[in-house]
Amino acid sequence: MNGRPRFLTFEGGEGAGKSTQIRLMADWLAAKGIDVLLTREPGGSPGAELIRDLLLKGAVDRWLPISEALMLAAARADHIERTIRPALKAGKWVLCDRFYDSSVAYQGAGRGVGVTEVQTIQKIAFGDMRPDLTLILDLPVDIGLKRALAREGEKSDMEDRFERMERSFHETLRQAFLSIAEAETDRCVVVNADQGIEQLQQQLRGIVTDRSLLS
Ligand code: TYD
Repeated sequence: MNGRPRFLTFEGGEGAGKSTQIRLMADWLAAKGIDVLLTREPGGSPGAELIRDLLLKGAVDRWLPISEALMLAAARADHIERTIRPALKAGKWVLCDRFYDSSVAYQGAGRGVGVTEVQTIQKIAFGDMRPDLTLILDLPVDIGLKRALAREGEKSDMEDRFERMERSFHETLRQAFLSIAEAETDRCVVVNADQGIEQLQQQLRGIVTDRSLLS
């Protein structure tokens, strides 16, 4: 039984463990008989995956911040129309590794485009598409960057443009995600990601249950 289709997003800075946690969450939901679509941003549709390559590879200063914001909005519009909406319509739960809060934090705050400006760009690109729940995995910057660096060896395709940005950029991101959560307590929950994988997953599952998303 699927219940109502739900749209869940996972957010946070580098090395917070989103990808592991989102997979474990998908397994848990699938074991309950829920049809789950696991997707990610940037990407999640053929066109958006092409834009992902442009965004994540190459020199740190490859793009102007505004160009990044516009490309991300273009990718997201495609992802929403071609992947997310059809899946929800088919009754699936959609779990997305990063979504529009990443643009507000990374491009709006971190890269200096401005939070309001990024919100406006997104509104033009795809209107309103609000997740039912956003789990923000919060971690001190030093720990996150250390984890991300340790993971570097596994990455074969150099998708690390943002990881290579300076430390102050990552501090700004962390604060931006916390501000988003503070402004939207009905949608967002901040979770301390500096704990064991299993322990963190139990906490996340508890939030989904407590918010009555399964009924
Ligand atoms: P990815 O390899 O998926 O990293 P992570 O495991 O940290 O999610 O790369 C996504 C990168 O793209 C990440 O550094 C954050 C950045 N990003 C933005 O800057 N803005 C956005 O809107 C999104 C979705 C991602």
